[in-house]
Amino acid sequence: MQNNTFPTSFVGQNLIKLSAVDSTNSFMKGIMSNSEPLPEGTVIMADNQYGGRGQAGNTWYAEPGKNLTFSVLLRPDFITPDQQFRLNMVVSTALMHTLRELCGEGAKTKWPNDIYFNDRKLGGVLIENTLSGSQIKASVIGIGLNVNQLSFDGDLGARATSLQIITGKPIELDLLLRSVCVQIELAYLKLRTGPVDSLYHDYVKDLYLYGENALYRQNGEIIEGMITGIAERGQLELTTSAGLKRFDFKEIEFLHKKN
Ligand code: BTN
Repeated sequence: MQNNTFPTSFVGQNLIKLSAVDSTNSFMKGIMSNSEPLPEGTVIMADNQYGGRGQAGNTWYAEPGKNLTFSVLLRPDFITPDQQFRLNMVVSTALMHTLRELCGEGAKTKWPNDIYFNDRKLGGVLIENTLSGSQIKASVIGIGLNVNQLSFDGDLGARATSLQIITGKPIELDLLLRSVCVQIELAYLKLRTGPVDSLYHDYVKDLYLYGENALYRQNGEIIEGMITGIAERGQLELTTSAGLKRFDFKEIEFLHKKN
């Protein structure tokens, strides 16, 4: 554990740096299930995450020492489980603030939480909430960002990118982590005190393919539509020739833009 100098009041103040771990999310949840109290805002990061977990049971690969792989603990007891998508919006908008400073308008959130630069994946977010009755007791927010990695194996080669590839310059990992922590705290405090409309607006404005015609697939069927909003529980809203349709995560696959 290390007391930190981030200019925040709680996010990243308790920073645990590990040289190697399977998954920072699993490690954080493990500490919590052994009933060791962790303060809200605790960050656990690893130089080498060798068993990183992604959404939908995927694996998250990151070359040791070159990328950011970390988890942040929040305790959002002021929202209900029905409102948990608001946490996705907090994290995405925070990442967009930091990334747009570094690489400009090409940075986008691909619903619900993939981080994209143009048509390539720059990062991902895995949020794991622990519910207790009508409350969210804890939210473990895992973030993986491709920072200084210059090549990606196999399939990823054609789909992934990193900040150094985009900007042509190496990025200092500690400074990037600091900036993301500052932005997460700001967006989270805004969620706690402010109107949700402004968070929604911030999230939607940087959404990949928002307002553009594109092709999607649902149960083998190709759908043409335009993302026109996000429902209260986080479903994707597509306006199609058959009207407005809503999709849960995993119900729909993004294909490509329609030229
Ligand atoms: C995805 O795009 O599928 C989400 C990837 C999330 C990866 C991060 S890296 C830090 C944290 N620990 C994990 O095991 N996963 C998340």
